[in-house]
Amino acid sequence: MTQRNAKGPKILAIANQKGGVGKTTTAINLATAMAAVKKKVLVIDMDPQGNASTGLGIDQSQRTVSTYEVLMGEAKLAQAICPSSVPDLSVVPSGVDLAGAELELVEMSNREFRLQQALAEGLDRFDYVLIDCPPALGLLTLNALVAADEVVVPLQCEFFALEGISHLVKTIERVKGALNPRLDIQGIVLTMFDRRNNLSTMVENDVRAYFGAKVYKTVIPRNVRVSEAPSHGKPVLLYDFRSTGAQAYVHLAGEVLRRDREVQA
Ligand SMILES: Nc1ncnc2c1ncn2[C@@H]1O[C@H](COP(=O)(O)OP(=O)(O)O)[C@@H](O)[C@H]1O
Ligand SMILES: [Mg+2]
Repeated sequence: MTQRNAKGPKILAIANQKGGVGKTTTAINLATAMAAVKKKVLVIDMDPQGNASTGLGIDQSQRTVSTYEVLMGEAKLAQAICPSSVPDLSVVPSGVDLAGAELELVEMSNREFRLQQALAEGLDRFDYVLIDCPPALGLLTLNALVAADEVVVPLQCEFFALEGISHLVKTIERVKGALNPRLDIQGIVLTMFDRRNNLSTMVENDVRAYFGAKVYKTVIPRNVRVSEAPSHGKPVLLYDFRSTGAQAYVHLAGEVLRRDREVQA
C-alpha cells in the first residue's frame, strides 16, 4: 500500500451508490466554496457521465487526458489536470471511456489501488481533493474509497434513505478493514431538502437520531438555481451567489473545514 506524503492534501470521496442524490452538485459546489476561501482544490471526476466536468465548464476539447488514462496507467495525474473557470479549482475530467474501465479493471493487478497509486505524486500544490463517485459500489467507487481519507455522503431525505445508507456504511467499514485503514465518514449532508414536505423532516429526524454528530448541521435546500447552474457550466456560487443553495454550500464548506481542523488539533 502506498502511503501519501504527510503534507499532502486531504482527500474526500463524495459517495452514495444511489443516483440523483446530489453527489456531483456537492462535489462542484463544495469545491468552489473551498476555493473561495483560498484552498487549492482538485475535483476528480470518477463518473463516466462526466457531470462534474461539465458543471465546472470543462468542455470536450479539454478532456483529451482523463480519469480513464490515469486509472489505466496510461497518463500521469499531472497530465490530466485542467484548470477550471474558478480560481484555485482544477479538474481531472472524465469521459465516456471510463464506463469501460469498470470492466477493464477487473482483470488488472492492484485493481482497487489504481487511483491511490496515481495520487501518490503530483498533489503537493493542493489542499483538498474531492472525488465525485459514480452511482454504484463497483470498482470505480472502490478505487475512490481506497484513495480517500474520508467520505462525504450526500443523502436525499426520502423514503428508504436509511436503508440505502446502511449498505454504504457497511461497504465503507469493509474497505476500512481490508484495504484502507484510515478511511472514515467525515459527514453526511442532507440534500434537496424541502421544508414544506413532512417526509423530509421525518427523514431528517431519523438520520440525525441514528448518525448524531456525523450529520452536518447545514442542510442543502431544494433550490431551482442549483439545478440551473450546470447548464451554464458554472457552480451555483458563480451563477447566483445569493441563492439559498449557494449560501448553503458556503456553510457546508465552513463545517467541512472546521471538522478537519478539529481532527488535526
Ligand atoms: N439542492 C438542489 N436543488 C435543486 N436541484 C438539485 C439540488 N441538488 C441537486 N439537484 C439536481 O438534482 C439532480 C441530481 O443531482 P446530482 O448532483 O447530479 O446527483 P448525483 O451526482 O448523486 O447523481 C441534478 O439535476 C441536479 O441539478
Ligand atoms: Mg453524479
